[in-house]
Amino acid sequence: MKGIILAGGSATRLYPLSKAISKQIMPVYDKPMIYYPLSTLMLAGIREVLVISTPRDLPMFKELLGTGEEIGMKFDYIIQEKPNGLAQAFVLGEKFLDGDSACLILGDNMFYGQSFSRMLKEAATITSGASIFGYYVKDPRAYGVVEFDEEGKVISLEEKPQKPKSNYAVPGLYFYDNTVTKKAKDLQPSARGEYEITDLNKMYLEEGSLKVQLFGRGFAWLDTGNCDSLLEASNYVETIQNRQGFYISCIEEIAWRNKWIDNDALRNLGQKFDKTAYGQYILSLLD
Ligand code: DAU
Repeated sequence: MKGIILAGGSATRLYPLSKAISKQIMPVYDKPMIYYPLSTLMLAGIREVLVISTPRDLPMFKELLGTGEEIGMKFDYIIQEKPNGLAQAFVLGEKFLDGDSACLILGDNMFYGQSFSRMLKEAATITSGASIFGYYVKDPRAYGVVEFDEEGKVISLEEKPQKPKSNYAVPGLYFYDNTVTKKAKDLQPSARGEYEITDLNKMYLEEGSLKVQLFGRGFAWLDTGNCDSLLEASNYVETIQNRQGFYISCIEEIAWRNKWIDNDALRNLGQKFDKTAYGQYILSLLD
């Protein structure tokens, strides 16, 4: 399975911040936002990742993340000229995927919680169909919404409904088999002119091959869409890291725990930032 991070689009609710810098490069507490979705892919065991962004922002991601070799990964990059919709990722990524199954994560989605690694590893074994998630929110109108029957079977999916049929929002994390590019190519733009991920998921639903797993109420799916939620996400990361001493989404640590890099490589990475708490944390892992 290969991974795709979609980190383009415009962040109108963060304007004028996003006029100057890509939203997904802004820090959430002590690290760039894109580290969080990247670490999710890494926890799923995915080593090859395609980063998709705008012509303006893609060079910044290249500079930040490089080839991936330093953390035992391989990064590719591709431009999305216009924010034509999330499902376009699979058309743009066709060559990169090269017939493999795919996990798409949105560059501004953050996940944190117990058993997450296990859920991810399981979802990443998918060979047919699609696997998405559901998360209970107070107001799901800004999201894709999934409705279930009494037996937990999915009966409908809707994008940003005015009158949601349930409180379960679909987070920006999706696992698909290798028919995803073909399906994405068959999509028609929605009323708002986008190739919708919800329409892609509906294709799998109609085929009877869509699996939805629910995250429990102890699980954190954090939003970074506006200034308040960005600050709340930073505070959340700070609270957990300072309380536990474990870092959230330290990509160097995950690469090392995954055995993609050895002790020497980890030491070298830590020494690069040894004046910062982040670098010192990396070095402390070797004690
Ligand atoms: O966050 C989860 C939600 O993400 C899902 O529940 C919805 O079903 C899904 O449509 C999406 O809704 P959003 O309103 O959050 O989508 P938005 O257009 O804001 O795009 C999400 C991120 O992806 C954002 O950082 C910009 C980026 N993006 C978006 C589009 C449409 C791209 O890089 N390219 C695009 O073409």
